[in-house]
Amino acid sequence: MARVRASMARAYIQGWRYRGIRTCSGRVEIQETMTTIQEAFTRDHRRLDTLFERAEQDLGGDWADCVSAFTIFREAIERHMKTEEAWIFPAYEKKYGNDNPLTSILRKGHKDLRAFFDEIAEAIVGQDVDEAKGLVGVVAQILKHHDEKEEAELYPVVAELLGADAPSVAALLS
Ligand SMILES: [Fe+2]
Ligand SMILES: [Fe+2]
Repeated sequence: MARVRASMARAYIQGWRYRGIRTCSGRVEIQETMTTIQEAFTRDHRRLDTLFERAEQDLGGDWADCVSAFTIFREAIERHMKTEEAWIFPAYEKKYGNDNPLTSILRKGHKDLRAFFDEIAEAIVGQDVDEAKGLVGVVAQILKHHDEKEEAELYPVVAELLGADAPSVAALLS
């Protein structure tokens, strides 16, 4: 029980939802280390979606608000991508090699997104609503596919590979 309590406390302190599964024998198994990465990064995707929508809504309105909303989104997604590049991708690559198809396409996705963010920032500075809206539409599509791929194919595998280290990696986002 002490182990269970310690694990619950750790999950609580880190802000992640504790998940205990009761087996047929009545034993409670702790699954939080296996689900934390998945939950933390997926939740961060939804938070980034909201920040991106806010920036999109401000387009064509007050330009100062628009610059501010896009800057907040950009800083938040940059932190998310850097955490993936520093911890999540390398964990996967350690097992499957640097040139595996999954992280190769996801790393390229980050590169493409950053290039589009530069273009959006340029369009906002130039107060070009049509250009900015067009670019935002493209980014929304890229992000949707990128996030779906990470949530379905990357995070569950990395959570398993990292095991006990998974909560500390997920905590980097908080
Ligand atoms: Fe990513
Ligand atoms: Fe991600």
